[in-house]
Amino acid sequence: MAEQTGDRVADWNDQSGERWVIHQARLDAMLAVFGQAAIEAAAPTTGERVLDVGCGAGESSLTLAALVGRKGQVLGVDISEPMIARARALAPQDMSVVFRVADASRAELPDGAFDILFSRFGVMFFDDPTGAFAHMRRALKPGGRVAFVCWRGMAENDWMRLPVGAIKGIVPPTPPAAPEAPGPFSFGDQGRVARILTAAGYTDVAIVPFDASIPFGKGETRDAALDDAVNMTFGVGPLSRVLADQPDDIRNRASVAVRAGFAGCPGERSVMINGATWIVTARNPAS
Ligand SMILES: C[S@@+](CC[C@H](N)C(=O)[O-])C[C@H]1O[C@@H](n2cnc3c(N)ncnc32)[C@H](O)[C@@H]1O
Repeated sequence: MAEQTGDRVADWNDQSGERWVIHQARLDAMLAVFGQAAIEAAAPTTGERVLDVGCGAGESSLTLAALVGRKGQVLGVDISEPMIARARALAPQDMSVVFRVADASRAELPDGAFDILFSRFGVMFFDDPTGAFAHMRRALKPGGRVAFVCWRGMAENDWMRLPVGAIKGIVPPTPPAAPEAPGPFSFGDQGRVARILTAAGYTDVAIVPFDASIPFGKGETRDAALDDAVNMTFGVGPLSRVLADQPDDIRNRASVAVRAGFAGCPGERSVMINGATWIVTARNPAS
């Protein structure tokens, strides 16, 4: 059965999860536009049941719960205890939403229960994505729909490409991850995503690009916004883990280089960076 290796689970329960929770409000502000595009593709209606995979601190689950109303229900599933704790703390009492700590690739889920399988950037971390999507399909009603948003490749996402380029030669190189290794960019190849969903038994797979400019840094002045963009890079996400392990002199040099890397991005009291994603939709066959 598909499942995640212990390291990654531990990381979402440790550094990655804790850092995400610290920056949750900022990350939600940056990611909302992408989540909204995926929610529009999902088109939830009153009374529907939604499974939100890798729901994190739960913003998309709460938006979905408002759309399906009290007659519907949203189940947000995430492997990270700190993220689910934040989601529960943010959820209003009167909303039809439940959060559960579980590995979505193997969690016991009710058979044929959900109208929609949704995710905002939460499905790129499975060791065996085909097995995971096949497992989750069993929780969908016949004819149920899938809608999720995932990043395209790193080369198109300057919020990662620029700092990665800037620290080259300063931070000792780590062995490059295989392009299909679980991680934020593992669904960058549109053909691979289509193959995974088709092999997992879904039909009507459609994958369309969606781009939006995100305020990666914000501040009272442009200088403050650049500092903020550097802080975000050092504070959360895959690079923050690499940088946290470096001695102070390397971190200081990396900080200067990352700031210079962002200097060409537009914005007056912000650092605006394009986010390049896929909006993916599919369907569970009717029978
Ligand atoms: C990039 S975060 C996105 C969180 C949230 N959807 C959002 O947009 O704010 C990815 C999330 O996927 C979760 N995750 C990773 N592997 C998972 C798995 N196998 N089952 C459930 N959640 C998982 C992580 O714990 C993390 O919260």
